[in-house]
Amino acid sequence: MAAKFSVSAPGKIILHGEHSVVYGKKAIACAIGSRVVVDAAVSPQLQSSLVISMPSVHLNEVEIIANLTDLEEKQDVMEIVKVKCNETLQELEHTDFARIALSCILYAYYHTHRQRQNCGDKGSTVTIKISSEIPIGAGLGSSAAFNTSIACLFLIISGSVTKPGVSEKFSKITNENDLNAINSLAFELEKIVHKTPSGIDNSIATFGGAVSFQNGDIIPLSKMPTLQLLIVDTKITRSTKTLVSKVKEYADSHPDVVLPIMESLNGIATSAESLLGKLSDDSNNAQLLSEWCRLITTNQSLLKAIGVSHCALDKICFIANKYGCPAKLTGAGGGGCAIVVLDYLQNNSDSISQLRNELEMEGFGCIRASLGGDGVLVKSTQITS
Ligand code: MEV
Repeated sequence: MAAKFSVSAPGKIILHGEHSVVYGKKAIACAIGSRVVVDAAVSPQLQSSLVISMPSVHLNEVEIIANLTDLEEKQDVMEIVKVKCNETLQELEHTDFARIALSCILYAYYHTHRQRQNCGDKGSTVTIKISSEIPIGAGLGSSAAFNTSIACLFLIISGSVTKPGVSEKFSKITNENDLNAINSLAFELEKIVHKTPSGIDNSIATFGGAVSFQNGDIIPLSKMPTLQLLIVDTKITRSTKTLVSKVKEYADSHPDVVLPIMESLNGIATSAESLLGKLSDDSNNAQLLSEWCRLITTNQSLLKAIGVSHCALDKICFIANKYGCPAKLTGAGGGGCAIVVLDYLQNNSDSISQLRNELEMEGFGCIRASLGGDGVLVKSTQITS
């Protein structure tokens, strides 16, 4: 009997608090419409193996014989992950992204191995196909959406998270313990990718909606106005890990300069949370909108001050500002994406198209953001014999 599961999780934008959140300050983030989808089939076999396809990192039906006895002998999951990753990739041309993605999948697989055995799994082939609508390395939470989906999948297969009923439609996970277990394993996987992540990206991928996040505490924001945002992609990929290390190095060498900036970023996130709450009750209040927009502009200046902007991001902000729209980078910066607040243009479609055209002429990619969608979703399509 083969069981089929699909799992999906969203990308995110950070409105306020990128980088400062790593220093225990408040951040505000929202799920976006772009998602990762993982389709999996689990069929009983004598020998356990994984077959992985992930076109976005050029992995195509890569087969890994799991040899689960290794785990009993060596115990350390990360050791086995490294050995298996090297064994698998040595014959293949591959990118760093492929190595990291494979490491995360293998970590989730071996980490949940004992629960799978307790669940009666005496051997199985798990075939996984991963597709993503989220550009990699663009600051939109592609790795967290991927890791949250992978964590959820293996927790379902191992019986640690409730299996979804058979249905053609995706459904939400409502059990809080299940969501917390997914978020916690996804955070472990995020550490493989980013070394010292704050946990905001996996939290938004798991819980969805809009959240305020500080020191691992996740508070869903029920009062969010319907914002008109344009996500603008510089198409310059960068590594969150490198940017976070760069800021840390600056903070370590000049704490008197950098830590007050982190404090100011916290002030921006706190004030923005309150303003956005008021705006959701009073969406036509121009004064509130203008106060929030000022915070967006200040936020960008402070991120530039800690060295995480980029000339392409500065150019996007400059063009947006010409149209009266505030803009800031979102995510780790150094390339990746910016968000432009279009609310000032009051749905003036001519101005919005002109702004979009100008940005696209510069080679940037533009998408209208749909904010606050579902977190992790699951479905079980069929069980075949
Ligand atoms: C990455 O989306 C946001 C950063 O603050 C890093 C993190 O929170 O882990 C730059």
